[in-house]
Amino acid sequence: MTSFVVHPQPADRPLAGHLTVPGDKSVGHRGLLFSLLSETPVRVLGLGGGADNGRSARAIGQLGATVARDGDAVVITGTGLAGMRAPTAAIDCGNSGTTIRLLCGLLAAQRFATTLIGDESLSRRPMRRVIEPLATMGAAITGQGHGADLVPPLVVGPAPGPLRGITYALPVSSAQVKTALLLAGLWAEGVTRLTEPGPSRDHTERLLAAMGAPLTVDGRTVTIDPTGWDRRLAIDTIDVPGDPSSAAFLVAAALVAGATEVRCDQVCVNPTRTGLLDVVAAMGATVAVEDRVVRGGEPVASLVIRRGGGDGLRGVEIAGDVVVRAIDEIPVLSVLAARAEGVTVVRDAEELRVKESDRIATTAAMLRGFGVEVEERPDGLTVAGRGAAPLRAAHVDAAGDHRIAMAATVAALAADGPSRIDDVDNVATSFPRFVEIMRGLGARIDVA
Ligand code: S3P
Repeated sequence: MTSFVVHPQPADRPLAGHLTVPGDKSVGHRGLLFSLLSETPVRVLGLGGGADNGRSARAIGQLGATVARDGDAVVITGTGLAGMRAPTAAIDCGNSGTTIRLLCGLLAAQRFATTLIGDESLSRRPMRRVIEPLATMGAAITGQGHGADLVPPLVVGPAPGPLRGITYALPVSSAQVKTALLLAGLWAEGVTRLTEPGPSRDHTERLLAAMGAPLTVDGRTVTIDPTGWDRRLAIDTIDVPGDPSSAAFLVAAALVAGATEVRCDQVCVNPTRTGLLDVVAAMGATVAVEDRVVRGGEPVASLVIRRGGGDGLRGVEIAGDVVVRAIDEIPVLSVLAARAEGVTVVRDAEELRVKESDRIATTAAMLRGFGVEVEERPDGLTVAGRGAAPLRAAHVDAAGDHRIAMAATVAALAADGPSRIDDVDNVATSFPRFVEIMRGLGARIDVA
């Protein structure tokens, strides 16, 4: 089990650097999994190299795609909607909730059975949210009982007959659930119409429409209407933009430790992903969004932090839609809250309880380790900001959660001595070059 030892960043050594963050994990999963459905070979450019995307790449190989490297590109020859093959062994989704939930949708209409397994964390994550609506569409999926929910291993299929479209209001905003149902809707007879309570990420809608799916979006409602469609999808190139959820740690590090100039290029600034930028603006920090362009159907830009010291942040309330748009950034935003003047309240974030760890509990425990006063609530946290006062050097357990490990690394830059963060191996699920990039910006991190 690997640990980070993170040294405080001296006030007279602000961070500085110009970099490109790895490819977005969410777009990467979709690029890989949807390529299986393409009638023509697909070049996927800019994949992030994290282990989670690797799970999706191996899964499509098991289902009949060929996956080959060509320089920086991954070239996928898929099977189309009609040609998927039964895998000869269980598909191991590792730590990846997106892989397992999206596969439920991809496999729901198939006339063969597939077993989906995962690591210890994934084997505790709730799957009823995808299983139940897919069953309403006519899929046969079983899981293991776990309290009121169902968890992996899952067995998907064989489907007893053709799927039927549904009209469904998602009880929680979830791009994974939305995507699973839209994928199943590609095979279904009749219309699939989904409505979400909040603005979850829309990479699926953008990519499926670009591949020729009969998909329309009207506000919070997405519809697949296969009437008259030949059930063929195709795309030549999928260009994966930089991951805003990885860039978030670099932005926060620059705000916490101070920066002469930290510039992250090619970051996806899809409005469904930019909640962090809105929250840091409300906290009083300036992150410049420069050189906006559209690449591969997604808006990208450079995020630039030019900031002298580690002070000047204000506590804020984080609630409602912005939580959905910053769902993976709440741990690192809580670290910024600890460095702010005044109290920050996070509400409406109960979804954090069912991420790679219970992120309300693990964020609270992490911050308490740094001497921060935190109150845990059912749907969020209250963080008492310490302003410019240094945090206490900590010994933190990241609980195998990549985002807790990286958020703790950011907090440790502002501590009064070296901090130790244990159980950090899963940083490789989303951001394998995290330590290298942080060192490149001037941070001192030892890996033990
Ligand atoms: C993701 C959706 C979010 C997010 C996860 C990736 C996706 O999960 O937390 O890291 O790629 O669709 P939910 O859909 O469960 O909210």
